[in-house]
Amino acid sequence: MKPAASLTLVGAGRMGSALLHGWLKGPEREISVIEPSPRPEIRALAEEGRIQLNPAPSESSIIVLAVKPQQFAAVSEQAKAFVGPKSVAISIMAGVRLAQLSRRLGTERVIRSMPNTPGAIGQGVTVFTAPEGAKRTDLSAARELLAPLGEVHGPVDEAMMSAVTALSGSGPAYIFLLAEVMAEAGVAQGLPRDLALSLARRTVEGAAALMGESGDSPEALRKAVTSPGGTTQAALDILMDTGGMPALFRNALSAAANRDRQLSQEAD
Ligand SMILES: NC(=O)c1ccc[n+]([C@@H]2O[C@H](COP(=O)([O-])OP(=O)(O)OC[C@H]3O[C@@H](n4cnc5c(N)ncnc54)[C@H](OP(=O)(O)O)[C@@H]3O)[C@@H](O)[C@H]2O)c1
Repeated sequence: MKPAASLTLVGAGRMGSALLHGWLKGPEREISVIEPSPRPEIRALAEEGRIQLNPAPSESSIIVLAVKPQQFAAVSEQAKAFVGPKSVAISIMAGVRLAQLSRRLGTERVIRSMPNTPGAIGQGVTVFTAPEGAKRTDLSAARELLAPLGEVHGPVDEAMMSAVTALSGSGPAYIFLLAEVMAEAGVAQGLPRDLALSLARRTVEGAAALMGESGDSPEALRKAVTSPGGTTQAALDILMDTGGMPALFRNALSAAANRDRQLSQEAD
């Protein structure tokens, strides 16, 4: 059997597969994938010789952990076999801290990142953190290897990761909720449910695309569609009133960030 590749992916689920497909489009490198139940497309890549699937363990220069956080304790035993003194471990597991990664994997060279769901289609945003004094090569490896998920920011202070989780990690769910509640409100105004849902979906998709393309700030875009005394203004007066969206979001993000801090403590 060939030795394990220099880049090892542990967990080829939704996010892991998105990473892998991105890497395969980049510079040629030997890639190993550790995955107990590989999807057919991952098996096909192994049959084509583009990756090694579940090779015998040996030291890998970079190991990327893309399993569920609750699988980490069990997976770390197996993953350790691919980690040597010079290995860099990059985690996309929500809430697993740098110290926990180091302790379980037996290397100081660890990167912790927080992607979000649109990463599965390369449209996400990922923030990463690294130990103080991390090698520049480790930081650039993280930037390069996380790029298939979308935009990458970092390194940030690890203390910021709970806020990152609350904003961009959980954020897509807030936008899906927005589409849901807009559709419900349309139904309440007498629209058929199907039409209300289509209008809400397309409005969220279109507004996001416009924001992405224009480069203007969200505030400038909002002001541009708000004529004084008009219909949008009437709605925004309610949405932005005391107890409206600004206050609701402050409370919601605070609850998410607190929950993240609690979860990482429980994981100790
Ligand atoms: N999806 C998101 O939007 C999102 C956002 C932010 C962060 N993340 C983080 O990204 C990570 C991956 O999420 P995901 O949505 O890609 O999860 P997923 O689809 O469940 O992928 C995890 C994969 O790891 C496999 N696995 C289980 N045990 C393993 C082992 N011992 N060795 C190797 N692989 C093993 C799982 O196989 P089985 O299915 O057989 O268990 C599964 O295929 C999570 O830690 C999550 O916190 C995800």
